Amino acid sequence: MKFVLSTLVLLAAATPSLAFVRPSQSVQRTAPTLNMAALPEVNIGIFGGGTVGGGIVEIIESKREHFEKMTGKSINVKKIVVRDLDKARDFTVPEGCVITTDFDDILGDDSLDIIVEVMGGTTLANDVVRKALSNGQDVVTANKALIAANLPDIEALINKVNEGKDEKVEFRYEAAVCGGIPIIRSLQSDFVGDDITMISGIINGCTNFMLTAMDVHGKSYDEALSEASDLGYAEADPTLDVGGFDARSKLKILIRLAYGIDVEEEDISCRGITDLTKLDFQYAKMMGGSIKLIGVAKAVGDGKVAAFVSPAYVTQNDSLYAVTGATNAIELISKNLETTTLIGQGAGRYPTANSCINDIISLAKGDKTPLPFNPPSKDAKFVNNYESNFFIRLKYKDALGITRQCGEVCEKYGVSIHSMLQNPTTKSDDAAFAIVTEKVPLSSVKKFCAEIEELDWCQGPAFYMPVLREDWETALV
Ligand SMILES: NC(=O)c1ccc[n+]([C@@H]2O[C@H](COP(=O)([O-])OP(=O)(O)OC[C@H]3O[C@@H](n4cnc5c(N)ncnc54)[C@H](OP(=O)(O)O)[C@@H]3O)[C@@H](O)[C@H]2O)c1
Repeated sequence: MKFVLSTLVLLAAATPSLAFVRPSQSVQRTAPTLNMAALPEVNIGIFGGGTVGGGIVEIIESKREHFEKMTGKSINVKKIVVRDLDKARDFTVPEGCVITTDFDDILGDDSLDIIVEVMGGTTLANDVVRKALSNGQDVVTANKALIAANLPDIEALINKVNEGKDEKVEFRYEAAVCGGIPIIRSLQSDFVGDDITMISGIINGCTNFMLTAMDVHGKSYDEALSEASDLGYAEADPTLDVGGFDARSKLKILIRLAYGIDVEEEDISCRGITDLTKLDFQYAKMMGGSIKLIGVAKAVGDGKVAAFVSPAYVTQNDSLYAVTGATNAIELISKNLETTTLIGQGAGRYPTANSCINDIISLAKGDKTPLPFNPPSKDAKFVNNYESNFFIRLKYKDALGITRQCGEVCEKYGVSIHSMLQNPTTKSDDAAFAIVTEKVPLSSVKKFCAEIEELDWCQGPAFYMPVLREDWETALV
């Protein structure tokens, strides 16, 4: 079999219709006899040989010597599980590495020290992670959906497996939140003596790319989505991006790390970007700022933490304002460090693989993180409500008494108006105006919008979003 696979990989890459010869359920490259000093080995099995899996293999091979010097160990990818053995791989399969479709080739192999899960999904991937941990093997994953859906179960399993053991199993997931940005490690190690009062982040690259296209380049929502999909920024199901759900999964994980709270994803108020229009950007510009899809978690007093994913108005002097395109950013405000901002690539082959590699090398060096989600808090409580200034945009057909009725409904729900904005009306049957409220609870804004939507003149659902910072007025132009 020597060299057969690499030849076929090259041929298949050049001739997409060419199929691999498939003698069994796995293929293997024979390891050449190398005359190297015998270093202790760290053997790795990877589930997934796609975008991220391929990047991990490439980095391990290209930095082999460097990693040997850093860890004193030889890091070897021994097995890779894929779905389709016949698919050409866009990376060179290492010598001696088995490509297989049989999960048990990895899960039944006790010689593997680290199991890397980068195949995605929440069902089979969960089985893989559970079996590997139960088997005492360290796990590295990039799968935020899996963690968000199963965090308490994974944590309980790790605690059970590690109970009374000196050699504890490790679970690493740096790549799962914001790809290449080292936010997980930072929350595990850099804020241990600090109190985080607020996390706010642009944590979905696809939507930030779209909003930049709409704001800076004047694109419509559909044009922006189609461009994001063409460039590979959107998930296979873009609802996860544009609906805010991908950001919500990440925020859930950050809330646990920063505040020790396991919050149900569904309890985090989540609003995507689907209802945003060009008009909203025009109004945001009139106010001197822009609109970003932001995930926010903040301490609101008495040990309570509120969180939301929503488009939000940001002023032009906000650190998140300048974060454009598919870039991600997370700002942490804390007692000791004050403001810390991490900006970088939130997805893509090498940024994501880079984080997996950091986890792998850390494990190879013997670093320990026995509580991968930080200790749970006994006192902190999640509350599904928060106060903010809000921007509310209402579409209307011209009628008498609109402002009066708005004022009445505002008064009914204690929504105090800071200002009203209106572009010159061009169509009397399809116009819009915006209200900026004083600081009010989200629940009151929802009630206000629900009642206004029932009125004859109101066209379609009201759109509302929070204003990100309390000092936003200082940046008004
Ligand atoms: N791509 C990114 O930028 C990025 C960023 C952050 C996190 N992540 C996370 O990383 C993970 C992997 O993403 P990716 O972009 O690398 O995905 P991908 O390119 O689609 O690769 C998935 C790999 O897993 C294999 N696979 C999928 N389902 C399988 C199954 N049922 N049985 C066996 N093998 C299976 C596929 O095999 P075939 O190749 O044979 O189809 C493929 O090699 C996901 O959890 C994703 O959320 C990705």
